[in-house]
Amino acid sequence: MAMVCLADFEAYAKKYLPKIAWDFFAAGADDCSTRDENILAYKRIRFRPRMLRDVSMLDIRTKLLGTEISFPVGIAPTGFHQLAWPDGEKSTARAAKAMNICYIASTYSTCTLEEISAAAPGSLRWFQLYIHRNRAVSQQLVQRAEALGFQGLVLTADLPYAGKRRDDIRNGFRLPPHMKLKNLEGAFEVCKMSPSFHSLLDPSVTWNDIYWLRSLTHLPIIIKGILTKEDAELAVRHGVQGIIVSNHGGRQLDGGPATIDALVEVVEAVQGRVEVYLDGGIRKGSDVLKALALGAKCVFIGRPALWGLAYKGEEGLQDILRILQDEFRLSMALAGCASVSEIGRHLVQFSKL
Ligand code: FNR
Repeated sequence: MAMVCLADFEAYAKKYLPKIAWDFFAAGADDCSTRDENILAYKRIRFRPRMLRDVSMLDIRTKLLGTEISFPVGIAPTGFHQLAWPDGEKSTARAAKAMNICYIASTYSTCTLEEISAAAPGSLRWFQLYIHRNRAVSQQLVQRAEALGFQGLVLTADLPYAGKRRDDIRNGFRLPPHMKLKNLEGAFEVCKMSPSFHSLLDPSVTWNDIYWLRSLTHLPIIIKGILTKEDAELAVRHGVQGIIVSNHGGRQLDGGPATIDALVEVVEAVQGRVEVYLDGGIRKGSDVLKALALGAKCVFIGRPALWGLAYKGEEGLQDILRILQDEFRLSMALAGCASVSEIGRHLVQFSKL
């Protein structure tokens, strides 16, 4: 089967992954309206392409907090990569390094941070943190990540409790016995996914905890899960360096906005004071172009990275990234942009529906 677009990898993963793993990756909360809206919202946005602008030389590089990346797509944090491919997050790290993009490793990785670093030395990696009730565990994770050369700390703000994912409940989802949440090993008795797993997280976290994180690390702090101008303003005031507009791929509060719709209000509130990124529903190069036109500096992919791993590990994930890269380059050219700096709001017709 020719793998031409990301949907081909989705179809492959659906066919070949064990049902329990596919359902876990695909899950949204409740009746999945926000998950599906993340994708539908892109289809409502139309381009205003410009012509005759010499697109013979295209420069798709950009920078994330000062570090150059080959194009404005990175890998969002997702847990349990070994459910998709035996080498798990090590394969993810290698693919990201080969493509010179940023990989955000999840707290819920099935490889250790040490293994991830060793798999792709010198590459651009951020660490995603969930704050645990046992603060010493979180502190130790942050400091371990910094010592290992991770270059950013991503605090996920939208999971005080896990959303209700019906298929996971029906399937009695838990990690197979041979897989572990290796970064939490020793920290808790519970290193396998159990129904009470997320209850280890601290639902009392507030904006003040950004100051606590700041006291633990010199790493830039990026906050993930922001959807409103009010929270964007608070994030800037609390000194974060970046914001990821995200609804956790529609896995948390069902009924919230598509991220591409929320992006505009966040970008307008932030006024360039910090970098704004987006994840959720990116499936084509033209989606990347729309997100950049509306003010995102970079976007991140969640589920598509898992489909790539499920297809052929590191190689499959590189295929996904190459397809997105080629599609993004082509979309830029057809819209009349020779470099990322030429992408702007003028490129889209956008009305909040
Ligand atoms: C996630 N996401 C997530 N986010 C996070 O901060 N830490 C995590 O461990 C996870 N784990 C996770 C597992 C799975 C299976 C999915 C699908 C998602 C959310 C993720 O970072 C991102 O916000 C979404 O996946 C983006 O949407 P798309 O690209 O999947 O549509």
